[in-house]
Amino acid sequence: MSSQTAIVRISGISKNFGGLAALQEVSITVGRGTITSVIGPNGAGKTTLINVLSGFLKPDSGTIELNGAVITGRKAHAITRLGMARTFQTAQVFGQMSVLENVMVGCHARTRTGLAGAALRLPGVRAEERAVREKARGLLAMVGLAGQASMTAASIPIGSQRLLEIARALASQPAVLLLDEPAAGLNTQETRRLGELLLDIRRQGITIMLVEHDMELVMDISDEIAVLNFGRSIARGTPAEIQASPDVIAVYLGED
Ligand SMILES: Nc1ncnc2c1ncn2[C@@H]1O[C@H](COP(=O)(O)OP(=O)(O)OP(=O)(O)O)[C@@H](O)[C@H]1O
Ligand SMILES: [Mg+2]
Repeated sequence: MSSQTAIVRISGISKNFGGLAALQEVSITVGRGTITSVIGPNGAGKTTLINVLSGFLKPDSGTIELNGAVITGRKAHAITRLGMARTFQTAQVFGQMSVLENVMVGCHARTRTGLAGAALRLPGVRAEERAVREKARGLLAMVGLAGQASMTAASIPIGSQRLLEIARALASQPAVLLLDEPAAGLNTQETRRLGELLLDIRRQGITIMLVEHDMELVMDISDEIAVLNFGRSIARGTPAEIQASPDVIAVYLGED
């Protein structure tokens, strides 16, 4: 893949927890505008990779480039501002806030006044607040939650909370969206709708890195797939190539 088409370049990333090598010299290139999935058995290091990419964990070695700039070791909020947003394996929403407010919080990662200014009601904040509210409503409509805007986040079903998390991540206007098992806990119909949403997000020019166990979803929507096993990157290819790979079948796809 040429440097022009790579938006994220992960080179030789290692991360140890005590004696456990969660990631060992992992290198993955994510093409701009693609859905690139990372699959592999439980404990393979997928969430650790997302934690390292999003600045929640520092890698022991290796480099991460976003848009050609090295971001290794930068803090999570800095990485958000540079254009990388994430969701969590266990949906993390502000339960007592409304669905709309949850998305508005995500917008404030980008606004001039930010969260503190909004809380202090500084001059100019009201107009900005209106714009943020409109933008948040637009994002809720996009993920299909417009009707739940005023409900508390804790009161909506888990499948909806996952969509809410995606809307909140999109509110920071990311170039790259990192999703950690967005289909977990979703039924077949919800998973199909999620797939359509992810394709819609890709059409808007946002690159997606998807960690997911639902192989039907992964094979349906991915442009590229990387396979992790015991912290090592063992295969890389199109869905058809991955499904035909004896190594991948042996460690993962052969399970069921
Ligand atoms: N903060 C931590 N401290 C110690 N060990 C950890 C920590 N986070 C992850 N690990 C270990 O690192 C390995 C990789 O975990 P990780 O959560 O990245 O796997 P995963 O591929 O996301 O698995 P799953 O599919 O079950 O979500 C596992 O053995 C896990 O127990
Ligand atoms: Mg995980």
